[in-house]
Amino acid sequence: MTAPGAGSTRDALDRLRRRVAALGGLPTLPAIAAEVLRAARDPAATVVDMTARIARDPPLAARVLKVANSASYGMTRTVGSLSVACVLLGMKRIAGIAANASTFRTPLAGAAGAPPREALWEHAAACAAACDLLARRLKLDVVAEAFVTGLIHDIGTTVLDAVLHEDFERILELAAAERIPLYEAERRMLGTDHAHIGAWLAEAWNLPPQIASAVAAHHGPPCDPGEAPLAAALQAADAAVRAAGLGFARFSPPPSREELSARPLFAGAAYDWDELETRAAAAASEAREFLAAAGNPARPSQGARQEL
Ligand SMILES: [Fe+2]
Ligand SMILES: [Fe+2]
Repeated sequence: MTAPGAGSTRDALDRLRRRVAALGGLPTLPAIAAEVLRAARDPAATVVDMTARIARDPPLAARVLKVANSASYGMTRTVGSLSVACVLLGMKRIAGIAANASTFRTPLAGAAGAPPREALWEHAAACAAACDLLARRLKLDVVAEAFVTGLIHDIGTTVLDAVLHEDFERILELAAAERIPLYEAERRMLGTDHAHIGAWLAEAWNLPPQIASAVAAHHGPPCDPGEAPLAAALQAADAAVRAAGLGFARFSPPPSREELSARPLFAGAAYDWDELETRAAAAASEAREFLAAAGNPARPSQGARQEL
């Protein structure tokens, strides 16, 4: 599916959407899979231990929500909280999901500017922490969903890496060559971007509609917090994480605190930006240490980052 022309774009997008909808799971980093599997095989591990590990892994977290929202659990409301999903599923079921997780088989060669997969996991961890903190501090009505929404917001990149690997490498090359954000290169080559692809996955996996909408909107114009509080919180979290230097902001300048403060979400709120940056940086650093301890010490260089 390379650079569809105008006439073929609709068909190509429909085909891609069907492929995304048919995905039963997504691969994860070998180091994370090994660590989660260790916990799954440990008879002393608890649901809390397992939830903490899954909370570090966007593909597994999304899959846990998918299973919790499947018809067999008969919930009358969609489940948008990872901890609620884990309690609902129980240790045996979560361990089964973890044990069946696949890992990437193909390296992400890409161009010189390709973001190592590990960098995506760090960014996801920072956004999850920032989105959760924003929802709590601003007393938004989406506290339960905020963490996992931040964690999975860029999962569309993992979908592309998994189902259109060669195209994804070309997209990375284009972004590096033209010095444009990744979503811009995706729009040029595919006619859509990882935000919308991630939302297709969230819809196909029956995740709560507000999570899918927030993921879809994260590279769009600023959302109105009154109408879409989760999307507004995610946009602000992603922007704040970039402003803190944790967001692959190689090809476009991160927003300043003044710009962030001007967003509708913060109107009238005296927000502590230092707290947000400190929390996001700590989450990214914990993710980095977790990956290193799990045996995957690859550390992205600053120059290898792209804007996601
Ligand atoms: Fe993104
Ligand atoms: Fe992002």
